Amino acid sequence: MQIKPHLKNLIPYPPGKTINEIKKELGISGKVYKLNSNENPLGPSPKVIETLKNCLLEVHHYPEASYQELKEFLAKKWDVLPEQIILGNGSNEIIEFLFKSIINPDDEIIISKPSFLMYEKFAEIYGAKIKLIPLTKDFKHNFAEILKNISERTKIIFLDHPHNPSGSVLNRKDWQDFLKNLPSYILTVIDEAYGEFIEDPSIPLGIEFLKNGYKVLILRTFSKAYGLAGLRLGYGISFIELSKVLDSVRQPFNINLLAYKAGLAVLQDKEYIEKSISLVKEGRKYLTEKLTSFGFKVYPSQANFIMVDFGEKAEKIYQELLKRGILVRPLKAYGFSNALRISIGLPEENKILVENIKKLI
Ligand SMILES: Cc1ncc(COP(=O)(O)O)c(C=O)c1O
Repeated sequence: MQIKPHLKNLIPYPPGKTINEIKKELGISGKVYKLNSNENPLGPSPKVIETLKNCLLEVHHYPEASYQELKEFLAKKWDVLPEQIILGNGSNEIIEFLFKSIINPDDEIIISKPSFLMYEKFAEIYGAKIKLIPLTKDFKHNFAEILKNISERTKIIFLDHPHNPSGSVLNRKDWQDFLKNLPSYILTVIDEAYGEFIEDPSIPLGIEFLKNGYKVLILRTFSKAYGLAGLRLGYGISFIELSKVLDSVRQPFNINLLAYKAGLAVLQDKEYIEKSISLVKEGRKYLTEKLTSFGFKVYPSQANFIMVDFGEKAEKIYQELLKRGILVRPLKAYGFSNALRISIGLPEENKILVENIKKLI
């Protein structure tokens, strides 16, 4: 047996710790506040819980293979054809479909440095060359530099929008100028994992560009606003030529029965979705104001998290919060050792975080 040489030193994705891991590691028996993985603090929708209970008696069957009902629902939501929807085991899986179907070894992808780490991970696994383009000074994708760095080997540009971990976004004019100048052989992936939380009306969604004929793939997830991270469900929307190929490289039944039924249930729970989104918008404002008033730099965010520059105190604050059962995400792996990423929690969780930070400083 010989392991592929380029995989020998691969470092796996560093996931946020779970509540049980933390309790065990630190010997905490009380409540743990999980503000490290940008999950939905509300818990699942009551409609999802009800649906899943009923579904449990069916798990000895494979799910329906075409996932037609979910595709049709999503197609209607976005006013596209059902064939333009690709379903994935998390939106992460759709990123992998792209590498499987488009990327040959030594093809090149362009990503911002830093951005969501999985683009880089898949590129390493599939042997693609990675061009990393530093963000602008205000932590946005640097469209001008990305355009300068395109070559004839560039196949895909990955842009998380809102950006992870800063929460930054770009306006319509910036997007239009960028997309207009891209050669048509390049695919732009607009990853809108946090798209539901965009509040600023001047910020465009990728669907607008897809409908205007640009070569884009939009990624969306059920892990954040829809509260289904543990079930793994995401989707892509693209032009037919690409969506057909992506759909053909997936395994049969890549969406498990529970995820499929839960996805359909939550989409119909408008009250839950609205509550999830308003909770984030209010919590984001509250945390931004409080932490700014303590003298820390909070980067403007349109996502369900904020990135905060704690300067030299970052590591100490992270460790002290951890001891008190409050988990946030250190950003050393992203190259920001002075910053922490804090997911927006329930109002009482946000308050406890603020009180603890106040005591620590
Ligand atoms: C920008 C971005 N894209 C995609 C994902 C993954 O989403 P999923 O849970 O659907 O795989 C995340 C998860 O944190 C993310 O931050």
